[in-house]
Amino acid sequence: MEELSLVKQSARALMSGMPLALRDPHRPAWHLAPSVGLLNDPNGFIHHDGVYHLFYQWNPLGCDHRNKCWGHWQSTDLVHWEHQPIALAPGACYDSHGCYSGSAVVADGKLTLVYTGNVKYPDGSRTAYQCLAQDSGQGEFAKLGPVLPLPPGYSGHVRDPKVWRHRDSWYMVLGARDLQDRGKVLLLSSADLRSWRLLGEIAGSGLNGIGEFGYMWECPDLFALDGAEVLICCPQGLAKQAERYLNVYQAGYLIGELDYRQAAFSHGAFRELDAGFEFYAPQTTLAEDGRRLLFGWMGVPEQDEDAHPTRQYGWIHCMTCPRELSLRDGKLCQLPARELQQLRGEHSLWLGAAGNAPERPLGCAELQLTPQGAFSAAFGEAMTLHWDGELLRLTRRNLRSGQPEHRYWRGEVTHLQLLFDRSSVEIFINRGEAVMSARYFPGPEPLLRMSGDGALALEHWPLTPCML
Ligand code: FRU
Repeated sequence: MEELSLVKQSARALMSGMPLALRDPHRPAWHLAPSVGLLNDPNGFIHHDGVYHLFYQWNPLGCDHRNKCWGHWQSTDLVHWEHQPIALAPGACYDSHGCYSGSAVVADGKLTLVYTGNVKYPDGSRTAYQCLAQDSGQGEFAKLGPVLPLPPGYSGHVRDPKVWRHRDSWYMVLGARDLQDRGKVLLLSSADLRSWRLLGEIAGSGLNGIGEFGYMWECPDLFALDGAEVLICCPQGLAKQAERYLNVYQAGYLIGELDYRQAAFSHGAFRELDAGFEFYAPQTTLAEDGRRLLFGWMGVPEQDEDAHPTRQYGWIHCMTCPRELSLRDGKLCQLPARELQQLRGEHSLWLGAAGNAPERPLGCAELQLTPQGAFSAAFGEAMTLHWDGELLRLTRRNLRSGQPEHRYWRGEVTHLQLLFDRSSVEIFINRGEAVMSARYFPGPEPLLRMSGDGALALEHWPLTPCML
C-alpha cells in the first residue's frame, strides 16, 4: 500500500475508532493502549530534551498483524501521555511489508529511529533491511533508507535493532534466525550509524553452553546495570515445562559481561522476565536520573488474539506499566516506576485473617498484601491467585476453551504489590523479585474476595484514570 494513502486511512480509522474504543469497559484507564487497531512491541523508548518518547508497533487499520507502523506517544512524567502523529508507515521498497521494531538514539542532536524494514515476496520468502529515519523538526520523521541488508549466513528473519553509544562507537544488537534455524543475537558496530560491521554472535541457541534454545530470538536489548551487562531477548521455540515457558513465546534475560573487543558475552542461565500470561518484546531506556526503565507489550504473538473481547470495540492489546530495573542476588528486579504513585487515591489498611478481609473494588486499583500464610484471592469472577506456602498460582479461564489455565511462581512470598487496570493485572512479588502480568476480562465492577486462615496485611488504593 502507498505510504500516504495508509497514513490517510489511518487518520480516518483513528477519528472514527476512538469514540468506540472509549466506550469499552475493558479499556485501560492508566495504561497505554491504541485508539484503534492492534498494538504490539514498544519501540524507540528514549528520554530526550526533557521528554519521554515511546513508539510502538501499530496496525491502525485492524486488529491483525498487518500494516505495521510506528505509533508515537510523548510524556514528561511517564504517567500522562499524548498521542503524536504516526512516525513511520510502510510503503518504501525496503519496508513495504512493515516498519518493524527498533530503537531510538540522539545523533547530531536529532531523534533518530533505527528500525527493520520488512519485505515479503509472493513466494512466501522475505528479507529485512535495518533502516534509519530522523526527526524532521515538525514532529515528523523522514526516512533515510536502509543501512544494512541481510548479513550472509542468516534467514530473512533478522530484525529489531537496539542501538546504543559506548565510548566512541555506536553498537547494535539484532535478533536473528540462522540458516540452521537457531535463534541468535548479533552484535554490530558503526562510527556513523550508516555503515555497520558485524562483530559476531554474542548469544543464542547452541552458544555459550546454553544448548538448543529456540529457532529465532526477537527483540534483543543490551545495557549495563549495577556493574553487569544484561541482555534481554525473546526466544521462540522453547518447549513447555511444568511451571515455565508456558506462553506461546518467552521473554527473558541473561546477566553477564560483554567484551566489546572480542564480541564475547559470558553469561549465566536464561531466566524469564515475567511468570504471567502476557508479556513480550520489552524495551528499556535510561531516565535522566540514571534509572533503567522498561516497557513491555502486555501480549504474546499468536496467543488467543482472536478471542479478546476488545476487538468488538476496534482495538487490541496494551503496554505494561513503566518499570524500574535493578539487580538483586543475581536476578533482574522490576518495580512499577515510582512516578505511578501519583495516581494513588485514598489509602486504606486492614489487618486480620485473610478470610475475614473486606471486599475491595479492583477496577483501577493498587493492592499490597503481606501474607503470613496460605491464602486465595479472587479478582472478580475472572481470575484467582492462590499461595499454598510454596507455590504461587495465577488462574484464569482460557478465552477460547473456557478451561482453567495456570501460571506459576515458586518460592516464599513475603509481599505482593498488585496493579489493576480494568482488564489487566501486574503482580510484583517480593518487591520486584518476580512479576506476573496478565490480561483478564472481568464483569462490571470486579471485587477482591480473599479466603484463608493466615494473617494478612491488606493495603488498598484506588488509582486515578489518566489516559484517553
Ligand atoms: C515481536 C515482533 C518483532 C517484529 C515485530 C513486528 O513481537 O515479531 O520481532 O519486529 O513484532 O510487529
